[in-house]
Formats: sequence, C-alpha cells, structure tokens
Amino acid sequence: MTPKILIIGACGQIGSELTLTLRDIYGTSRVIASDIRKSNPELAASGPFEILDATDKEQIGSCIDKHGITDVYLMAAMLSATAEKYPDKAWDLNMNSLFHVLDFARDKKIKKVFWPSSIAVFGPGTPKEQTPQQTIMEPSTVYGISKLAGERWCEYYYKNYGVDVRSIRYPGLISWKTSPGGGTTDYAIDIYHQAIEKGSYECFLDENTTLPMMYMDDAIRATISLMQAESNSIKIRSSYNLSGVSFNPGELAKTIQKHIPGFSISYKPDFRQKIADSWPGSIDDSPARTQWGWKAGFDLEAITEEMLSNLNFSS
Ligand code: SER
Repeated sequence: MTPKILIIGACGQIGSELTLTLRDIYGTSRVIASDIRKSNPELAASGPFEILDATDKEQIGSCIDKHGITDVYLMAAMLSATAEKYPDKAWDLNMNSLFHVLDFARDKKIKKVFWPSSIAVFGPGTPKEQTPQQTIMEPSTVYGISKLAGERWCEYYYKNYGVDVRSIRYPGLISWKTSPGGGTTDYAIDIYHQAIEKGSYECFLDENTTLPMMYMDDAIRATISLMQAESNSIKIRSSYNLSGVSFNPGELAKTIQKHIPGFSISYKPDFRQKIADSWPGSIDDSPARTQWGWKAGFDLEAITEEMLSNLNFSS
C-alpha cells in the first residue's frame, strides 16, 4: 500500500530535504509537511503544509485524521547546544512529541513511525573508535539523555505494543540547502559558508576534535531505505548506528584549502567542546549494513566538492 506521510518538523535541516525526496517518490499530495511555523516558505509552497506544534497531541491527531496519515516522520527536536541552554524545553519537545506519535501508533491510528536518534546517545565512557551498536551509553548532555530515553521507549513500544518504529543514530549532518540550528556538529557547515564569504573561519571546536559526520544525501537515502525495508529484516527497534565519514576541523580545513588555497582557520573552543569531547570519533554500523543493506556514498573530498559547488563557489 502506498503510504500517506506526515513529516513533523519539515522545515528543519533534515525535514526539508526529506520532504522533497519523499514527494518525488510517493507524489506531492501523499506527503504532508508540517512545522510550528512556515520558516521555510519555499518548502511550505511546494505541497500540502500544516502548521503543527509537535508537543500538542490533539493537533497531531487531527492532522492524522484529516489527511488519513499512515506513516509519521517525527523530525522536530532541539539539538545538543541549544538543549544545554533550555533543558526543560528540550526535554518537553524531544520526549513528549515522541510519546504522542508512539501512542497514535499503539492505538493503530498510524502504521509506521520514523524517529531520529543521534551519536549523542553515547557518552564519555563509550569506546571512542568504531563505537559498537551495543556498548556503554552514559550520555552527559540533555539532548543525549533525551535521545537515549527515546530509544528505550521506541523499543518498548515495539516489544509491548507491536509498534513498527524505526530509527537511526544520525552522525553530524552536512547539507547546503537548509541550515541546521543549535547543534555541536554545525561547524562543519558554517565553515563552508565562511570560507566562501570571508576566506577564513573561527572554529568553536579545537583542531583535533574528530566526530562522525555524514552528507545529507546519504542520510536521506538511509532513512528512506530503513523505512522501505521489510519489517522482519529490522532487528533493532531502539536505533541503528550509522556511519558516514569521520574527520576533525583541521582535516576539513585542509580539504577546503585544496579548493580555496588562501583559506585560513583559527580555533576558539567554547562550551560545545565539552559536548563534542563526550561523543565518539567513529561508528561501527555493521548491523545496518547487514540487516538492510546500508553503505555510505560520500567521503570528505566528495562532501567538500558538493558543498562548494552547491554554495556557488567558483575558483
Ligand atoms: N548534529 C547533532 C548535534 O550536534 C547531533 O545529533 O546536536
């Protein structure tokens, strides 16, 4: 059966690209975009759009009824750096929106749920290299705590109520179409903008902070393959490790310098350094590879070429 999809948080960094890709696959009228405001007017104009507060269960319920929704992609969340500033709001948004959607799936109002988790579920005690799917998880950020709690609830709803929920632990996502907001990995996007505009960048993480990252096209492809996979091939109902590429600001700067030789970078770590230091440097994603055929396509060189050309840099 062709799904009828609701994307909550469609104007965000992932949501905006996901919406357009899902519309290409399933048809514009079968993909309803929603967000708390029309912060991405182009996206809002590209097909059906609803104003929706992800913490308001009634609003979500009416939207599901109105459009006969079968699948929900819950992309609304407060990211790591902002969540440290507003812990209560972050917990409210990140957790309650998830409960609302899981409850609708438990009550058979919808069939399938996608919910994003993050590398932030790991903590300082987690093995840093090739972090396995199952390992020590003691997140030290509000965002990480909310994502780990959410993962446990996803698995609980699957095991106890048969909810078909699917999830990915996204690495830092690099994209040019829509800016991220309030994340610790956002430097890896800002750097391209500043390199083109000013030829220099002051980085809020230090030179050697290696983090797992991924190009948005890979993340969207992974999300859609997971959602299209046969239910019985999905053995993990908390959230899947997913690996793209690992690099640090120094390495990223060198790659940019190949295209913009005069580009310079300086380092002024702020509160986000502590967050980054608590996260892994690289991820072992073997379960995603073997269970639903995942393989990343973009390495750092390819990401840099894509970013610079799409942001209209010409040498
Ligand atoms: N990119 C996110 C952040 O930095 C991690 O999931 O908060």
